[in-house]
Amino acid sequence: MESIYLIGFMGSGKTTVAHELAKRCGAAVQDTDRMVEINYELSIKEIFAAFGEDTFRAYEHQMLINTNPANTIVSTGGGIIESQQNINWLSTHQVIYLKTSWSEIVRRLQHDKNRPIWNDQTKDKLALLNAREEKYLQASKYVIQTDEKNPKEIANEIVRLIRINK
Ligand code: S3P
Repeated sequence: MESIYLIGFMGSGKTTVAHELAKRCGAAVQDTDRMVEINYELSIKEIFAAFGEDTFRAYEHQMLINTNPANTIVSTGGGIIESQQNINWLSTHQVIYLKTSWSEIVRRLQHDKNRPIWNDQTKDKLALLNAREEKYLQASKYVIQTDEKNPKEIANEIVRLIRINK
């Protein structure tokens, strides 16, 4: 099986859905955020604080292009599409955009303290979501609306989608 990449804004459920989907496909799971943390031995929060976003993006790119090409469900960071190079790379792969509304994202992330971009008070996160929408669409083959669906339902939907389009 060709690896499947899940993209979408923070709080869209990529990590949870990746595990549900992996169970159904008998696939492994990789997570570009966790790969960065393991490889560079620092948390995402520490990397942002010590070196800034550009360094994080460079690390993230390296992890993305080193993900398994087969038998893996890859969960990516919400900003993976901030690089045109990543968009180009993703658009040649099996990519699913988990699309989530702003109100649902706010509901899910209201108590989050670990995401540097979400917790950056100088950033307009709604504007960021709107600006990223086009990039998620460019990078993806399929779009799945996640509002009012649980991770199991989303994983089932992805399995159906991939079977139909085989
Ligand atoms: C980011 C999203 C995060 C993580 C980093 C930057 C972003 O991943 O990669 O904090 O720019 O949206 P999640 O989408 O898993 O929260």
